[in-house]
Amino acid sequence: MTHARQHTIKVVAHRGASEEAPEHTLAAYKKAIEDGADALECDVRLTADGHLVCVHDRRVNRTSNGRGAVSALELAELATLDFGSRRTREFFRTRDEEPDWEYLPEGPEHTSVLTLERLLELVADAGRRVELAIETKHPTRWAGQVEERLLMLLKRFGLDTPESAADSPVRVMSFSARSLHRVRAASPTLPTVYLLQFVSPRLRDGRLPAGVRIAGPSIRIVRNQPAYIERLKRAGHQVHVWTVNEPEDVDLCVELGVDAIITNRPRAVLRQLDR
Ligand code: G3P
Ligand code: CA
Repeated sequence: MTHARQHTIKVVAHRGASEEAPEHTLAAYKKAIEDGADALECDVRLTADGHLVCVHDRRVNRTSNGRGAVSALELAELATLDFGSRRTREFFRTRDEEPDWEYLPEGPEHTSVLTLERLLELVADAGRRVELAIETKHPTRWAGQVEERLLMLLKRFGLDTPESAADSPVRVMSFSARSLHRVRAASPTLPTVYLLQFVSPRLRDGRLPAGVRIAGPSIRIVRNQPAYIERLKRAGHQVHVWTVNEPEDVDLCVELGVDAIITNRPRAVLRQLDR
């Protein structure tokens, strides 16, 4: 297959370079930056004392040596846990054997809980443009607090009001249209991505919730409904696909002309795209 459009495709490291280092840790994001990823994806949740931390699941059980819901733990409690201690390489599967990560620098900071603030510092110090795709988790439960804290933090780093969506190094993603609406209401130029696990009848014609310019379909949608991807593009939307780890899926994304590939394996995908 030729990669005629590959130069236009952004490679986004899903939870960092999460196939080679424990997901959502400083190690995983450092590795993704070293690998040349264009952007970093992270999920954010609020701790009991109101800090935004990069954790995917509602609980810390799968990814750390601790137990309990993120929302019930304070940051100081989360900071005692080791997020490099579990084998989370296989998606949604936990094994009991000792982890054997390909990339894990020495030092507790590499595997302790990662705050969004620390991730923003890492990106600010990267020495090149590194974009961030931040996904709001449990936005319903916290009724606006996740978005409020997120925008406060982005403001502190001068990232909340880009001149235009096209220039923004940050985009906010969610499966919740309400969460994206809150973000746009407070910060209209910040681009938002509506994540899709399936295509509901009201979206089949390629329309997205009002004001959203970027669609985030799963790779399963891309495989099973390529015509839907064409409709999104005809409607003028960008398409950012998750989670694309198989070479044949990368080829399919290239063929369909998607705008971003979100992957656990940024190095492998970049290589496949001849970058
Ligand atoms: O990038 C979007 C993707 O991360 C959504 O699914 O469950 O991995 O957060 P999930
Ligand atoms: Ca995510």
